[in-house]
This record gives sequence, structure tokens and C-alpha cells, in this order.
Amino acid sequence: MTMGELLYLNGEWMPIREGHVSCEDRGFNFGDGVYEVVRVYGGQPFTMREHLERQVRSAAGLGFEIPLSVEQFEEVLRGLIERSGIEEALIYTQVTRGAAPRNHIFADDMTPTVMAFIRPAPPHPKVWRIEGAGALPCVDNRWNMCHLKTIALLPNILAKNAAHRAGFAEAFFHLEDGTVTEGSASNSYVIRGGEMWTAPLGPKILPGITRTQVMEVAREIGLTVHEETFTLTEAEDADEIIMSASNLELLPIVRLGERSIGKGKIGPVYRRLHEAYRELVRRRCGLAELVPL
Ligand code: PDD
Repeated sequence: MTMGELLYLNGEWMPIREGHVSCEDRGFNFGDGVYEVVRVYGGQPFTMREHLERQVRSAAGLGFEIPLSVEQFEEVLRGLIERSGIEEALIYTQVTRGAAPRNHIFADDMTPTVMAFIRPAPPHPKVWRIEGAGALPCVDNRWNMCHLKTIALLPNILAKNAAHRAGFAEAFFHLEDGTVTEGSASNSYVIRGGEMWTAPLGPKILPGITRTQVMEVAREIGLTVHEETFTLTEAEDADEIIMSASNLELLPIVRLGERSIGKGKIGPVYRRLHEAYRELVRRRCGLAELVPL
């Protein structure tokens, strides 16, 4: 049976709209949970293990345990792919601390709420890969545990919506002092003189799974990669800016606010990197070819 989408919720399979959780789930009341987004290519989940291991670390960072092992969670994701028959997909996973009468203090005997659903991967605007995209600089006013992938995303979604309303594809987060951190839902990179910079790991950014892959292919194609801080001014003066996420792959940024980046067109490093990234995905997923974006 091929369906448009499918949900796994606490051990049961159902259409997404039939999934219900308690109004006292701590995810709903407090944003007390963690999540992941996994891209599926040709029916093969890409870097699934890395995502699910990060999910375990995120939950541990919040002080709770996911009741499924990584292997069991992998089975759930494979089940979603097989049962839904969706080949080009995004899987969203979410685990919250669970439901209990509302209280800031955690109850002792909470059972985490576990869910994962699959949907066809939505297409990206064609113009992004033809003319490039814009990003809006936004002050990063998030907390100091951005390395945990928690569902509490208010600063991210407010920045992303401000960017969207102003006609930009992403928000480009920087601290008050100008230090660039990442995007609202992506990591960021600048290219200058044939070298690449991306913010170092730490509590100010998410250690993106795609970021690791991007750095690997960057080194493969001979780029020097620096995991070092850089500023908004340095980004504005870069030859190229790129952002990355599992659902986005690599995105060429040709406008930062009102400023054009480099020549204001998609640059050669982005083209080489994205091609190398797609080749890596194709190889790791064991596919003859990838469906074009
Ligand atoms: N976001 N930084 C932030 C703040 C993110 O939310 C994401 C991903 C990334 C990139 O991580 P990865 O390469 O592991 O996908 C970086 C997902 C896609 C989301 O929120 O929908």
C-alpha cells in the first residue's frame, strides 16, 4: 500500500492527522523535547545513524533517556519508508520528556512520547539553484545550549519568518558582537580566496550532520577548511556564502541583507561542493542516480 504520509506514535502506526498526544505533554507545554530531520533518497535514509545518535545526545543533554535504542529507532524509520512507499522523503522524529500534570519540576515516572513521521520531501524553489538565494542577518538571541537539537525553536522560527517576510530564504544568525553562528535551521560557511570557514563546534551552534559531510567533501576537493569564528563583516566581504542542512543540502547565498556577495551570482565553489555532496549521497545510499532537485 502506498500512502501519502505516515506516523509512528508510541508504538502504533497511523495517518499523521490521527496522531494525538496529551495536552499536558511537556513538549506541548514547555518545548521539553528533542527532534531530528532525516532526508530519504531513493528509499534510503541518509546518515540516519548519525541523526539518531545526535538525538540520544540531545535528550541526554536535557536529562532524559529515549526509550528506544538507536537500532530500534532505525527500525521505526525503515518501517516508515517501507510502509509508506515514499522514496524521496523527509522523516521528522520527536521525543518529548512525556506527559504529566503541568509542573516545572519533572515528575519521577515519566514515559517519553516518541513519534516519527514521513512525508514527501517538498521541492525547493527552483530559483535558489539558478540565481542563488538571499539570507537576512539577524541577531542570534538563542540560549547557550544550541548544540542540543531541542524542539524549543521560538527564536529560530521568529528569525526565519522575519527573513521570509522580507523575501529571504534564511536568517543568518550572528551574535551582538558580529560573530557569525549559523542559520535559523542550517549551518553557514564563507568562502574566501579558495578557503572555507565555518563556526567552530560549541554551545552556540548545532553540530550539523550535513556540516560534517560538507567539510569532508570540501577537503576531498582540495579546499582548506577552517572551523574558526568569523564576523558578519567578513561574511559580507566573502567571495561566496553557503548554508547547509539535511533538507536543504547546500544553498548558495548571493545576497546578505541588502549586500551582494561576491559577484552576486552563484559561485564556482558552491557548484563543485554541491556536486561532490550529491555524489557522496548517491554513493552512500547505493543509488545509480539521484532524483534532480
Ligand atoms: N534543522 N542548525 C540549526 C539551528 C538547524 O535547525 C539545523 C537543521 C542545522 C543543520 O543540521 P543538519 O545538517 O544536521 O540537518 C543547523 C532542521 C533541518 C529543521 O529544523 O528542520
